[in-house]
Amino acid sequence: MSDGTYPRWAWALSGSGHFFTESLELIHELGDVDLFVSAAAEEVLRMYRQDKKPLPPTTKVYRDTSASSAPVGLFYEGKYHTLVVAPASSNTVAKCVYGISDTLVTNCFAQAGKCRVPCIVFACDTAPELITMAPSGPVPVYPRRIDLENTARLKNFEATLVAESLADLTAAIAARQAQLAAAPLPAR
Ligand SMILES: Cc1cc2nc3c(=O)[nH]c(=O)nc-3n(C[C@H](O)[C@H](O)[C@H](O)COP(=O)(O)O)c2cc1C
Repeated sequence: MSDGTYPRWAWALSGSGHFFTESLELIHELGDVDLFVSAAAEEVLRMYRQDKKPLPPTTKVYRDTSASSAPVGLFYEGKYHTLVVAPASSNTVAKCVYGISDTLVTNCFAQAGKCRVPCIVFACDTAPELITMAPSGPVPVYPRRIDLENTARLKNFEATLVAESLADLTAAIAARQAQLAAAPLPAR
């Protein structure tokens, strides 16, 4: 659980409602996490977060309030051993794939890549037909060809693991935890 030390997990939340509450649950379980929240995610958070469970006490929350995404400088200081982007909206995936970094979340992905920090991205557009959770309940969605192509392109990125389901995401986090336990990084 959380002891407030670094390096720790960086978790970037984008404005996708797909498995949004489940992603928040994983953040609670993980503990040693700093959160990077896109402007859209901040709005979506208010729509989905009904339980209002407080975040783990050592969690720092960085919001998308600067043009330069100033908090991503923390990646250059070696503060994070892993970046999780979950859930990743179609918009965020598209920008990541084309090397665009103009939001806090896309900047986390770009700067983590440049600092060789491994990334786990939970893409929401993984099949031509999905059931997703709107604030009012489950709804069918039909990701377009471009959305599916972008998810496929992301899989070719260096040091990037694309999770296509909650089970994939949970397994990827567990695998990274095991890797870190076997070869701990020096404290920062
Ligand atoms: C309630 C709600 C749910 C949404 N769910 C999704 C979603 O599941 N997938 C998606 O790609 N976009 C979804 N969006 C749209 C994104 O929030 C929007 O594309 C936004 O520009 C994403 O910005 P970001 O990628 O910077 O976070 C949702 C929007 C709202 C209001």
